[in-house]
Amino acid sequence: MRNLSELLDIHQDLERIFFRHQQKLLHFEFEAALSILDEYERALLKHIEDENTHLLPIYIERGAIKRGGAAQMFFDEHEKLANHITFFKEEIARMATEENPDKRLIWLIEREGFFKKLCDHHDIRETDFLYPELDRITTDEEKLELLGKVTCNFP
Ligand SMILES: [Fe+2]
Ligand SMILES: [Fe+2]
Repeated sequence: MRNLSELLDIHQDLERIFFRHQQKLLHFEFEAALSILDEYERALLKHIEDENTHLLPIYIERGAIKRGGAAQMFFDEHEKLANHITFFKEEIARMATEENPDKRLIWLIEREGFFKKLCDHHDIRETDFLYPELDRITTDEEKLELLGKVTCNFP
């Protein structure tokens, strides 16, 4: 039997893309860093869209929402994560035109460190609350149908 929790693997796939992006930053390859960040953004937004549209409505409708697992928090965190990426893209585009980008680069990497912590917290909350509850409240047929709808876009 398949479970919706298997979608949590997408978080690790996202981490891997973000790591490639940061590798490019470390080598001052800003164009490449930006293009991988675009790839990351597309994958992140697709995953967020899947959760917001297909999974969270079921959780809201039928889930036993525990303390720390409020649905609104997931929506808010999704928005926060997406906003961070928009901001990082602007900063990298600016850096690419700077003669001495060291200062901005250090600052950006630190901000990205904060972003990664947000991702970790989000992952923990989805692992602890959202996905176990979704697995519990959906039938096998529904699970398959939902997995079909949210087929991930990773190679
Ligand atoms: Fe997720
Ligand atoms: Fe999420």
